[in-house]
Amino acid sequence: MEISADPHADILSHDTFTHGVPHAAFGRLRDSSGLTWISEQDGAGFWAVTRYEDVLHVSKNPQIFSSAKGIRLEDMTTEETEARRTMMELDPPQHTAYRRLVGAPFSRREVLAYEDAVRLLAREVIESVYGQTEFDFVEAIARALPMRMLGSLLGVSDADGHWLVEKGDALIGNADPEFTQHVVDLVSTDEYRLMPFRSPAGLELFDYAGKQALDRRRNPKPDLISKLLEPKIDGEPLSDHEFKNFFTLLVAAGNDTTRYTMAAGLEALMQNPDQLEDLRTNPALMDDAVEEILRWGSVTMHFRRTAKEDTQVAGTHIKAGDKIVLFYISADYDERRFPNPYQFNIRRTPNDHVAFGLKSPHKCLGEHLARLEIKVLFEELLPRVSSIKLHGVIQRLRSNFISGIKHLPVQVQWK
Ligand code: HEM
Repeated sequence: MEISADPHADILSHDTFTHGVPHAAFGRLRDSSGLTWISEQDGAGFWAVTRYEDVLHVSKNPQIFSSAKGIRLEDMTTEETEARRTMMELDPPQHTAYRRLVGAPFSRREVLAYEDAVRLLAREVIESVYGQTEFDFVEAIARALPMRMLGSLLGVSDADGHWLVEKGDALIGNADPEFTQHVVDLVSTDEYRLMPFRSPAGLELFDYAGKQALDRRRNPKPDLISKLLEPKIDGEPLSDHEFKNFFTLLVAAGNDTTRYTMAAGLEALMQNPDQLEDLRTNPALMDDAVEEILRWGSVTMHFRRTAKEDTQVAGTHIKAGDKIVLFYISADYDERRFPNPYQFNIRRTPNDHVAFGLKSPHKCLGEHLARLEIKVLFEELLPRVSSIKLHGVIQRLRSNFISGIKHLPVQVQWK
């Protein structure tokens, strides 16, 4: 039996996900009680929240379900938590103040102003493979576009942008030997335990961010780094340590997630050629299609909270201090919320998926940018190809955290 069809597949094993998301296992968890205690070999164990309504309940009550003790499965010491803290590991009111400090460049209004730049980059990226009939869509297109966009936002060269994304891959892919030699569950990473994702790449990114901060403090430029560092009217600017952590968060959170969503979208469209055609002939469907691609991919598969007090989720008693993991990947396929969830449907409405989180103070800061990049990519790509088909074996990221297609070989007939 395919692992993804095995209702008892191990949802903690990184290897499981190299065969695809174990949807049958999540389906079984949703149907049992919706909340299941999962023991960990190297951790305290946690409650898996798998139904849509329960994910929302936990997300919107940060006063009960805290992010301050960590948002990954990993149990961290106080020293590790403090060293690695980003805005994601803050609760209101500290989180609210921090978000106010960094939020403006990511607002919908600000991001819409980048549309022309994104479109130009998308055209350049597509142009670079135009005419080739067989290539890896991820390497050639889905990886390149968010990488170049991030470089341009941060005001760094394309070469630096490339380097940053390699480091981001090593963080996000910290369980995949293609992206790092320091595979978290296979070799000791104790030396890097104070670094993001227990990765030496975190150290290199901190160092890089420190140099950029120094440069922009001396010579401010019209870029995101300068904006983040400039003095604020309504609060202290980011400290050096906060800036390094935020910079690293952007590199880790902003690239791979967008890339893997694009890849999941193209895979789904290729599997549903009628919908690919529908989208091509009705570009007005693009906004809805992007939402369905986000739901379908749900590439950030989980984040964690910790109960601050005794409480209940899905009618089950939870003790103060318990770890609670929100499985967005399961909530987005919850048949209680989404009719025919395993049917990709670009005309799905409503489609209030949780791929970016929902009703949570931590709802993805980059959601507008990610949406824009995905939309523009397909708007630019689809009219230029007369056919695009899978042409080889899909390779998936070894990770129980990020659902990612690393390689998507395609065969294309260009117009
Ligand atoms: C399709 C692509 C993306 C997906 C699926 C995604 C998903 C998520 C999720 C699930 C969260 C946590 C939500 C919660 O805890 O309630 C999050 C937070 C975050 N994301 Fe994204 N993200 C994407 C793209 C981006 C991009 C492009 C950026 C930045 C350029 C970004 C930056 C962030 C940041 C900074 C946070 C933390 C926000 C906070 O703690 O307040 N993300 N994202």
